[in-house]
Amino acid sequence: MSLVPVAELLLQAQKGKYAVGAFNCNNMEIVQAIVTAAEAEQSPVIVQASQGAIKYAGIEYISALTRLAAEKASVPVALHLDHGTSFAQVMQCVHSGFTSVMIDGSKHRLEDNIALTNKVIEAVRPLGISVEAELGKIGGTEDDISVSERDSLFTDPGEAERFMQETDVDSLAVAIGTAHGQYKGTPKLDFDRLAKIKERVAVPLVLHGSSGVPDEAVREAIRLGICKVNIDTNIREAFVLAARQVLEANPKEIDPRKMLGPARDRAIHIIREKIRVFGSSGKA
Ligand code: G3H
Ligand code: 13P
Ligand code: ZN
Repeated sequence: MSLVPVAELLLQAQKGKYAVGAFNCNNMEIVQAIVTAAEAEQSPVIVQASQGAIKYAGIEYISALTRLAAEKASVPVALHLDHGTSFAQVMQCVHSGFTSVMIDGSKHRLEDNIALTNKVIEAVRPLGISVEAELGKIGGTEDDISVSERDSLFTDPGEAERFMQETDVDSLAVAIGTAHGQYKGTPKLDFDRLAKIKERVAVPLVLHGSSGVPDEAVREAIRLGICKVNIDTNIREAFVLAARQVLEANPKEIDPRKMLGPARDRAIHIIREKIRVFGSSGKA
């Protein structure tokens, strides 16, 4: 199949009350793992590239690898820019074959976030590309901020309503208590806030920083309107742990395939588990 836009997958997920997994890739093995897991689960899937992935592998490699994996797959695969930083980067990804972009204007003032999001929508909507925006600040677990500070960074339901009145974005990433990276304790999600946002926002909502969020909390978030769940850290952990175990067991090993093969298998395993939690198995 050719790559599909994310919006299509998310509207189906919204109707079916499940979420599509958006998994971050950094190399060939992870792209293969994501698409192999989706095939095994007969699930739609989103492959996404972070800023770090773009620096490491480059837009063209990520695009070519994912396009090839999608063409060989029997399930719908979308390719998405994660946390796009600028209009120029969005256009580079679109020209390279991405079918969806996130423009992350969350660090700007609301008016500027709206203006940047609209500029992107105007340019890429006619090309059939979907657009995700972010409102509120999701941040990382390493950001040293207090609970009350974090709370003030959460998405405001009233602002979310205004954002939707002034943009025509396909999906909205919300800050409700998750963070990127490994959690120190167990994250506590603000479900009341999510429910209030959902009352005011009709488009599919996106949960970032979902690695390490307990399965039950993820299911509840999906019930309350989350249709796209982003996972990166849990794949990194599985991949690197498997590779480390090979090297610890065989310190003299010099064949990268002996390390990367098991790492890819472990990534497939964790991605399949996530897909089942998101409820998208059998929805391809
Ligand atoms: O945006 C979320 C990613 O997990 C950050 O990944 O370190 O590859 O930019 P990165
Ligand atoms: P985690 O690395 O915490 O899973 O977050 C992934 C993410 O939100 C990518 O945008
Ligand atoms: Zn994110």
